[in-house]
Amino acid sequence: MSLQSQLANQNTHSALDIVLDTAYQGIDGAGWKKLFTSARQSHLEQFIADMFAGKHINHSEDRPALHSALRNLSKTPVFINGADVMPAVAEVWRRIEALCNKWTGVTDVIHIGIGGSDFGPRLAIEALAHVPSIESRGMRIHFLANIDTAELARILARAHPHSTRVIVVSKSFTTLETSMNAKAVMAWLKSSGCSKSQVAHSLYAVTANIPAAKEFGVEEDHIYPFWEWVGGRYSVWSAVGLPIALQYGFETFKEFLAGAEAMDLHFKNAPLEENLPVIMALALLHQQEQHDIKAYATIPYADALDWFPKWLQQLDMESNGKSVDRDGKPVKHSSPVVFGSAGSNAQHSYFQLLHQGTEIIPIDFIAVREPMSDRPEAEAHHRILLSNCLAQAQALANGKDASNPNDVYPGKRPSNLLLLPKLNAFYLGALLSLYENRAATLGALWNINSFDQPGVEYGKVLAKPIEKALASHQSNIQASADIDAVTAGRINLLNS
Ligand code: F6P
Repeated sequence: MSLQSQLANQNTHSALDIVLDTAYQGIDGAGWKKLFTSARQSHLEQFIADMFAGKHINHSEDRPALHSALRNLSKTPVFINGADVMPAVAEVWRRIEALCNKWTGVTDVIHIGIGGSDFGPRLAIEALAHVPSIESRGMRIHFLANIDTAELARILARAHPHSTRVIVVSKSFTTLETSMNAKAVMAWLKSSGCSKSQVAHSLYAVTANIPAAKEFGVEEDHIYPFWEWVGGRYSVWSAVGLPIALQYGFETFKEFLAGAEAMDLHFKNAPLEENLPVIMALALLHQQEQHDIKAYATIPYADALDWFPKWLQQLDMESNGKSVDRDGKPVKHSSPVVFGSAGSNAQHSYFQLLHQGTEIIPIDFIAVREPMSDRPEAEAHHRILLSNCLAQAQALANGKDASNPNDVYPGKRPSNLLLLPKLNAFYLGALLSLYENRAATLGALWNINSFDQPGVEYGKVLAKPIEKALASHQSNIQASADIDAVTAGRINLLNS
């Protein structure tokens, strides 16, 4: 047996019929053994147990990270400060299901939220729309995130105000983009002739800050809660995922949760050597140690997953893009830059650099066994899609020699292949849960708190005096404690 095929066997793992092939990571048996030993020495198994047990692993905010409870369909008790959270979670499921059966004649849903209150449902709505057999209510689901009114204008030009429902989604209910967009949509409903009671009837909220939602004017029984122990970027499993249930039905939403739960159980119970999220995390750590990699790419060979890299960017980089560890000490490594987009389109964009650039950039190739449409051409097209995916991984791994240096492919460029049997709600849930658990594993191994995001606050604070200066329309703003000379100059340019 050649080394290549030995590696191929030893590097193929599966869970829930998802296959992970790490053969092109170039890690031999001894290498893997070392990686698993070091993971054990870093107490990874204890960390995983603590996470599911609701220990306050988000130590800076003194909270657990229990998004797993949101997909705990078996309702096994999950305790926070001695109280089981599952009855409250199940009550939200009951209300989501009831709402799915209640909405009739709705043409448009405007989901207003940003970051973790946007990416997950946006990805799921788009990914599942491609499932040939899926039943859809056929509503137009509009995602409004950007404060740039281009998005608002585009949506309002299409939506029918008298048959629109609005869901304001914000864990904190203090996010400026979300509250300004929500106010603008309310104003549009009113100016389109909706009465006060029609506006109230149309307005829903999903939040961990119920008083603020009420203050905004959302009726109490239109507020769907989630909780401080759910990080925003881990929240699609809560009522943040409401559009998934409304569009594709509650059973589909449950399937999505079931896939995520199944992956949680695998992550919690499988030995490290067979544990998909752990193996993927260790492969990345290995490449970081070996090649000091600064970026990695995720390329789903499925057009339906084009939003996946954007969702993953927040998950990985907001969770683990940090310079200090849990004890405030500088870290050697933390999250590389994550980028990607659907293949094969991606091949016609940045693959030149992946093959021949000076940086080694590990790649996760994600492929789906089944074609993603029931078009007569589907099988032939899908074969080409898959052959491209396999060919790229092989070319990157093995390289190619040539007499002309311009034609040399250096090879030894590592990649994973993650093969999903199909892309339905179950496997989408499992895929996202796999990456969430991988992010938690990476954080644990870097000794980073993956569940806070202090680095996003400072810019928000600085934007306030700048906005005030812009609103003054003065073009003689001077540098001050809040605004430095460069920014003062830029404000003056904009105001002149
Ligand atoms: O600014 C970053 C952030 O806090 C993310 O962590 C979060 O997903 C997003 O803003 C939206 O926050 P919220 O759901 O509270 O509106």
